[in-house]
Amino acid sequence: MSIQTGFEDIVRTNVPLSEYTWMHLGGPAEYLAAPTSVEQLGELVKRCREEEVSVRLLGGGSNILVRDEGVKGLVVMLTEAAFEDIRVEKDRVVAGGGAKLGHVISSAVREGRAGLETLVGIPGTIGGALHSNAGGRGGDIGQWTASAKVMTLNGEIHERTREEMSFGYRESSLDELVILEAAFELEEEDPEVLTKRMQKQWIVKKAAQPLAHQSAGCVFKNPRGMSAGMLIDQSGLKGTSVGGCMVSERHANFIVAEEGASSADALALIEQVRNQVAQRLGVELETEIEIW
Ligand code: EPU
Repeated sequence: MSIQTGFEDIVRTNVPLSEYTWMHLGGPAEYLAAPTSVEQLGELVKRCREEEVSVRLLGGGSNILVRDEGVKGLVVMLTEAAFEDIRVEKDRVVAGGGAKLGHVISSAVREGRAGLETLVGIPGTIGGALHSNAGGRGGDIGQWTASAKVMTLNGEIHERTREEMSFGYRESSLDELVILEAAFELEEEDPEVLTKRMQKQWIVKKAAQPLAHQSAGCVFKNPRGMSAGMLIDQSGLKGTSVGGCMVSERHANFIVAEEGASSADALALIEQVRNQVAQRLGVELETEIEIW
């Protein structure tokens, strides 16, 4: 049985992933699916297990660089309504794994729930944000997370309580296949005060990062106590380019790609930056973006 049998409506073959990633680079997914319900997702995951087809989850595509060869197996996107629900309850906000972090933040702010607004400007989905504990200098998403519902590679669903989860710098213990839903424990605050705070943070972030460009998030993790952007800048690498990819002039920890760039350009530039920073400053940088 093919993995498409019975899933003809939702599984497409040979789909370019460049359309779904912020860098707009990279080759196709062998299969790409957007299931319409948790049950259907579970069935599909079980089918892949039976057929020994690998499965990956694609969130907002803002922290991913897909190689030019593309990826084998199935790529799942939680872009259907069943995975994007956002509910504001008494002291918590509950959001589907496919909900955009930005939408969750604005819902929380509108309803006067404080905490998540510190994450304004971070792209991607709730699932992606939790998977790598997205954050910035003002904090990270893990600190607000009260519980999460996940699906394993066997298609089983589990609830993870706060005590069962741990979050570190750009990493979390939530390493199951799918993050279906998460609940955030937030404090009540005046929506107007919150809106002002969020707008202020947005302006600061916009001034510091090339948000409007064709780029993903920060390319490298900050080495303990240092800023990767500052190190790359100090190595004189701003504006360095390979093919159609360039180290951003605005913030050195971003790579901007222009029309016609390839993933091979981005990977070669990443290597070059790593080598130069190691040679000039003796620091080994580690990538934060996931390379598929
Ligand atoms: N700096 C430079 N040159 C540059 C970039 C930065 O000299 O090209 C200097 C700045 O002037 C500042 C210092 O480096 O003194 C730190 O810069 P910034 O405040 O921009 O913070 P960062 O450490 O570069 C981190 C996160 C960002 C997050 C910002 C703001 C990482 C790898 N980066 O950046 O997260 O948005 O703080 O909270 O943790 C991401 O993870 O994708 C990301 C973009």
